[in-house]
Amino acid sequence: MRVLLVGSGGREHALAWAISASPLLETLWCAPGNPGIAEHATCVPIPATDIAGLVRFARDHAVDLVVPGPEAPLVAGLADACAREGIACFGPSGPAARLEGSKAFAKEVCLAAGVPTARASVFDDAEAAIAHVRREGAPIVVKADGLAAGKGVTVAATVEEGIAAVEAAMRARVHGEAGARILIEECLAGEEVSFFALCDGTHAVAFGSAQDHKRVGEGETGPNTGGMGAYSPTPRFDREAERRAIETIVTPVLAEMKRRGSPFVGVLFCGLMLTDTGPKVLEFNVRFGDPECQVLMLRLMDDLLVAMRAACDGMLDRFSVRLGPEAALGVVLAARGYPGTPEGGTEIRGIEQAAALPGVTIFHAGTRREGNRLLAAGGRVLTVCATGADLAEARSRAYAAVDRIDWAGGFCRRDIGWRALSR
Ligand code: AMP
Ligand code: GLY
Repeated sequence: MRVLLVGSGGREHALAWAISASPLLETLWCAPGNPGIAEHATCVPIPATDIAGLVRFARDHAVDLVVPGPEAPLVAGLADACAREGIACFGPSGPAARLEGSKAFAKEVCLAAGVPTARASVFDDAEAAIAHVRREGAPIVVKADGLAAGKGVTVAATVEEGIAAVEAAMRARVHGEAGARILIEECLAGEEVSFFALCDGTHAVAFGSAQDHKRVGEGETGPNTGGMGAYSPTPRFDREAERRAIETIVTPVLAEMKRRGSPFVGVLFCGLMLTDTGPKVLEFNVRFGDPECQVLMLRLMDDLLVAMRAACDGMLDRFSVRLGPEAALGVVLAARGYPGTPEGGTEIRGIEQAAALPGVTIFHAGTRREGNRLLAAGGRVLTVCATGADLAEARSRAYAAVDRIDWAGGFCRRDIGWRALSR
């Protein structure tokens, strides 16, 4: 198969790594890619959001399958544009990608499908939203409706904080047009898990689950990030819980999307809160998580291209995805300043020695090469991953590799996996 992967992060490096292990692969390109991805694919300088450019490249190079990593090209209609050219795309159409692109839409689908989720109200008017925050009291959650680069959610501990979040989104427009409409949601308590389902429009198959660490600081402190580390499996969400989630969450959502004329194909990422009364949906994403993807790919025993192809062909009936018994844990190394403005251009040394340690795989995100030197070029720069017989072993191997890397401009959390490991 001739495959075009889209994106440039740690998630896409992990996808490139897994795809390149497939005997079905003939050629792999990645747009735009990064220096780690370049070890598995030919990188082409097309931005991930240049839909016309991506489709032109796919057509000109007789690509059989397009694999978008991030959500932006999906929301912008990459799968639709591929479909018009008769090119398979492992990802949802623009209308189906609204499950991530609009939180109000996702909520509406959950309600129509009878899927457990936090109670929410939708507002287009700041005055009415503020009155609602006052009426409901705190804690309360304020969410921008649209894509806000992971920064659109405020879990407000006080009414004042809730009101400030409404004003920031709707009046100051800190999230741009994404905040013109907001959701005000009941605050759920519990542990969060990222659950992934492979979907072919009708059938869904569990792809495994992981736990992410969203806050920048140890002990879940400081601002939210794209994710500072992840591990899989998750002790609180076993294969039986995954089976139930397919039955009670994913399958009803697929049926509802199909009924609306927008069948969902690709990976449905369910952000779940494990509450006292069972799992409830916090959000949907229409792609793999980053860094969750990195640890899932390390555990995957099957051919990723076969699984993606089966999803595109509507063949997931009686399909299954096997993850190995080993645990995997990934630590994100970020550039100083992240999640604010990261310091770029600092040199990273010792990656090869770190990657040679037992069980270790290192995925690149924001890196670039300058001659023989590897430099930081982004917020999240590397995901240092390891597998092990259990999470404790995976963690000690991953941190042994982190400690081998010589990078004064970077930092990481030292407590990835604490929830599972302190149990
Ligand atoms: P989201 O982008 O919707 O996943 O929200 C980002 C983060 O905000 C989630 O990972 C949760 O930690 C938190 N969050 C979102 N919705 C809720 C909720 N209803 N109750 C409590 N925490 C929430
Ligand atoms: N790690 C969470 C996400 O990819 O959205």
